[in-house]
Amino acid sequence: MSAKILDGKIAAEALLDSIKEDVQKLDPKLVVVQVGDNPASDAYVRQKFKSCERVGMRSEHIHLPVETTLDELMGTIERLNSDDDVSGFIVQMPLPDALQAHAPQVIRAIDPKKDADGFTAYNLGKVFLSTEFEHLPPATPSGVVHMLEHYEISAEGKHVVILGRSNIVGKPLAVMLINRGATVTVCNSKTKNLKELSAGADILISAIGKPKFVTEDMVKEGAVVIDVGISRTDDGLTGDVDFDLVSKKASAISPVPGGVGPNTVASLVRNCLIAKKRQSEN
Ligand code: GUN
Repeated sequence: MSAKILDGKIAAEALLDSIKEDVQKLDPKLVVVQVGDNPASDAYVRQKFKSCERVGMRSEHIHLPVETTLDELMGTIERLNSDDDVSGFIVQMPLPDALQAHAPQVIRAIDPKKDADGFTAYNLGKVFLSTEFEHLPPATPSGVVHMLEHYEISAEGKHVVILGRSNIVGKPLAVMLINRGATVTVCNSKTKNLKELSAGADILISAIGKPKFVTEDMVKEGAVVIDVGISRTDDGLTGDVDFDLVSKKASAISPVPGGVGPNTVASLVRNCLIAKKRQSEN
């Protein structure tokens, strides 16, 4: 079998096109706060502004120097929280070494109403209730769910195995798929018989950041494989999945790059629009 390629760019463009009209009506503004010059962050931030441009959303880049103090960063967040012209904002992660240990405190400072990344406890907590309350869901899980929906892959009744239990991908993604009727197993680096579990998945989603970790013996014939991992290697950007081998066994597979990534960005842009809508209703 040769797998159908789940082209993430096509799915993301469909999502962006679907919100264009509302963006034009409501005129939201997204602000990206970046501290320092991590090359991977530079690339991600460029993608975010490109997607804003595609839908005609206003955006601003607040690029702070690497030596920015926690107080200065907190001051920027407070200013964005109280600026009525700012609909949503994000603080690009990772922060420079001197600030990274304070990331939880930084995220806590973001007004949940403007939390376009869906990283705050309030927005993560609402995801637990039901699909109806997924107002500002975390952008990467939301991007995965959109990809599945775009390619008409239902999670209902399926056994989904997720590799990775992070607060911004694995855990909330598990909850969002439970909300959609899936039976979900979440694995971590200590999981026993991981190969057996992953080989039982109807939908296998990897979000661990280990290049080519998922080999064909870990995949059931005909499974759907979604690769959230992205690592910089000597061969360029590489996903968690050994694409060449696994694509011979799976029924559908998302590539890296050009898979989940563009859908994360499109979901972030959609979140900013939703934030604006909800602010105008209050
Ligand atoms: N770094 C890598 N991905 C992301 C993301 O989705 N949001 C933020 N804020 N930082 C990131």
